[in-house]
Amino acid sequence: MVVSNRVPADADNPGGLAVALKDALSGRESLWFGWSGDISADTETVRTVTRGQAAFAVTDLTQEEHDGYYAGYSNRALWPAFHYRLDLSEFEESDFRAYMAVNARFARQIAELLRPDDIIWIHDYHLIPLAEALRALGVTNAIGFFSHIPFPPPELFQAIPQHRELAAGLMACNLVGFQSRRDRANFERYMIEKANGIWMPDGRVGAFGSISRAMAFPIAIEVDSFAETARAGAQMDTARRMMAAARGHAIILGVDRMDYSKGLPERLGAIGELFARHPELCGHATLLQIAPVSRGGVEAYAHLREEIEGLVGHINGEYAQIDWAPIHFMAQGLPREELAGLLRLARVGLVTPLRDGMNLVAKEYVAAQDPDDPGVLVLSEFAGAAEQLTGALIVNPHDMREQAESIRRALEMDLTERRERHAAMMEVLHQYDSAWWCASFLDALEKSREGGESDGLRTAFGGDGSGGGSGASMHSAAAGRLTA
Ligand code: G6P
Repeated sequence: MVVSNRVPADADNPGGLAVALKDALSGRESLWFGWSGDISADTETVRTVTRGQAAFAVTDLTQEEHDGYYAGYSNRALWPAFHYRLDLSEFEESDFRAYMAVNARFARQIAELLRPDDIIWIHDYHLIPLAEALRALGVTNAIGFFSHIPFPPPELFQAIPQHRELAAGLMACNLVGFQSRRDRANFERYMIEKANGIWMPDGRVGAFGSISRAMAFPIAIEVDSFAETARAGAQMDTARRMMAAARGHAIILGVDRMDYSKGLPERLGAIGELFARHPELCGHATLLQIAPVSRGGVEAYAHLREEIEGLVGHINGEYAQIDWAPIHFMAQGLPREELAGLLRLARVGLVTPLRDGMNLVAKEYVAAQDPDDPGVLVLSEFAGAAEQLTGALIVNPHDMREQAESIRRALEMDLTERRERHAAMMEVLHQYDSAWWCASFLDALEKSREGGESDGLRTAFGGDGSGGGSGASMHSAAAGRLTA
């Protein structure tokens, strides 16, 4: 039983979570529960929808639920706080109540659909209290949670007024999965340092009266099928038109939901810096930034669009020539196949979030390249993907000069180095693909239920799999306190 707020049953452009999960689940028997994407007064009906092999059970949200649970607590409070932007977080008590109430309702509806041997896999920050709500209804099935977004350092997490309720909700799961070792370490540090938690001898954490295992599972893509999509996409009309418009200029491509976590103003600033420092590049390279509008009802997103459009206008005004402009900006999305084709043809892939759980565009850019003549990925050190894609040019997105110089380096990199970097990253993507991600999470969930060790992630980051945070052996003397 898969549960996520957004499901790919209806939505045209569902974002990273739904796309990745759909790939990972292919070939498995599952029922996927979530929001239909519709708003109505009917909270009782659960509709089942079948799309190909996949079965969905979806329910509407009322307008009040949408405003309080989705736009409110999930996207005005948790999203910014988990992306280290407490300055943007708005903690409204009424939003939190709506958030808890929707989770309790989903729990009731899921409990009715559950079979005794189902395992339950919950996704993302909209549904942090769901496991506890299911347990309160007597559900004893194995429950795993996967966080698609970062987990903030404990000092930030504890600033969320409801941090204890959220933490207890996560601890009600047998397994809590994160995108990166950094996120896992932040979660464990909160439990141990701020919530009087203890390490169990087997590496699990005990806190809030429960024992749970935390692990990192970097989410992945279906590499070969994406590469195929990109090859086909590069032959489509959109790709041809992009190349015709470029008239031989190198394309630097950014593809992001329009979100303040994506570092778009900093990226535009770096492009300005690039042309200011290297006027010889004017007329020879163009940034194509595709940034479909996201979460339009939330104020911070409306401000962001204004800021971005102001910057694009300013930089174009400053550097444009009569037949060339430095930035081509689109606030609409494109179908997946067309985007894949554009990724393949771009000389530089620019993925520079200020904070990101994983960022699958980074992986898709690598998979889309022609191995004989690959482009170069410029990647933020603050994207989860940077722990794996070490063949990218890694940048601090706040440092516009460094970002600009890395873009220049990417534009000028010779073929041998481009091939080497690309091949190294493809090896990682092939080894840790979406099937691996799904199987290793579910395997670890089975083992966590038994309390046993899981070794699903020994080498996914090219390290020892220790996860960077677990102090299991150091703290084993404290084990046992929990039951006292
Ligand atoms: C991110 C989140 C997902 C979310 C997606 C799109 O990838 O991790 O949970 O579905 O953004 O955002 P939206 O608010 O449109 O669902």
